[in-house]
Amino acid sequence: MNGVTGRMGYRQHLVRSILSLQQQGGLDLGDGTTLWPEPVLVGRREHALRAMAEQHGIEHWSTDLDAVLADPSVEVYFDAQVTSARESAVRQAIAAGKHIYCEKPTATSLDGALELARLAVAAGVKHGVVQDKLFLPGLQKLKRLVDGGFFGRILSIRGEFGYWVFEGDWQSAQRPSWNYRSEDGGGIVADMFPHWEYLLHETFGRVRTVQALAATHVPQRWDEGGKPYDATADDAAYGIFELDGGAVAQINSSWTVRVNRDELVEFQVDGTHGSAVAGLRNCRVQHRSATPKPVWNPDLPATEAFRDQWQEVPDNTDFDNGFKAQWELFLRHVVLDEPWRWDLTAGARGVQLAELGLRSSAEGRRFDVPELSL
Ligand SMILES: NC(=O)c1ccc[n+]([C@@H]2O[C@H](COP(=O)([O-])OP(=O)(O)OC[C@H]3O[C@@H](n4cnc5c(N)ncnc54)[C@H](O)[C@@H]3O)[C@@H](O)[C@H]2O)c1
Repeated sequence: MNGVTGRMGYRQHLVRSILSLQQQGGLDLGDGTTLWPEPVLVGRREHALRAMAEQHGIEHWSTDLDAVLADPSVEVYFDAQVTSARESAVRQAIAAGKHIYCEKPTATSLDGALELARLAVAAGVKHGVVQDKLFLPGLQKLKRLVDGGFFGRILSIRGEFGYWVFEGDWQSAQRPSWNYRSEDGGGIVADMFPHWEYLLHETFGRVRTVQALAATHVPQRWDEGGKPYDATADDAAYGIFELDGGAVAQINSSWTVRVNRDELVEFQVDGTHGSAVAGLRNCRVQHRSATPKPVWNPDLPATEAFRDQWQEVPDNTDFDNGFKAQWELFLRHVVLDEPWRWDLTAGARGVQLAELGLRSSAEGRRFDVPELSL
């Protein structure tokens, strides 16, 4: 596990997924056997790895990626490093014959992402990319509504993602500074469009076209050491996506908005028969039979409490941590050869959408999103 000292690598992948699988006694494969994931922590900073290993009682850790990759007992290479470091490390792991599981975006360019997918296929290793939003309770409930035909014909999806990320001067920033430097693989388009690609694709239909405006609203920030730097990457993106099936999705992504929503991401879906608003955890619906008939009259105060006219969708199941749920499926794919579709080609689609989104913004044009082939 490379990059485990980072925000994602530590909390979601190591603690909430792999260590949590150990705490539950391993992964029950359903045939009387149990899979026991044994992490090997890899990174650049010896003291950080040693401290983490000691804290969690983890036996294996190393600052020597080559040596770990040369160890035949290591079966899977996982990468949650900064985006700019991923491509070369994943290539190295494929060359060493390891199965690959990694964070998104898989590379900083579509060419690089496709090449990783080609190399993994040619090497015959199993490969997967984190697509955690698909496993969030709110979005699983939304998918359930789509699959159950609740919406009728889906017309539009409006997504609002974001929160205020402090500049780092008078209050420290709550995201690492590389996110705000394009030369280090940062930018909200590169970060979030891969998520929007798989989410839209799997829930509503493949993204056919993209039109985006990316902006750097806050041009100067302060890094982890308190030093000012130029923010060279986009910190907000306003995207419009046409989907197979005819729906239009419009998604605002921003690290420069203050939250006036119930959750940090929310999607409103409107269909001929009903609408829903889904977030990370919750999902509310309004059926057409319960739709009010507001009349526009600016002379009167609002006559109805519109937010109260929605109904909560029940969980009806236990939702596990989304990262852990996907890890379990990946490990089952590796050892049992169970079906798996979130592979490096799926990861490349996310990189493709980000790349086209940035081009759309730079050139002021709308782009078709061609189907990828290896
Ligand atoms: N799936 C998700 O929801 C999600 C959310 C946030 C981030 N991510 C992705 O996870 C990856 C890590 O993001 P993060 O927010 O955890 O970042 P982070 O800065 O907190 O962690 C980065 C990790 O990479 C290591 N690293 C390796 N080479 C480095 C270098 N040259 N400079 C700095 N650090 C280096 C760091 O030591 C650290 O372990 C990114 O690719 C990001 O796109 C995914």
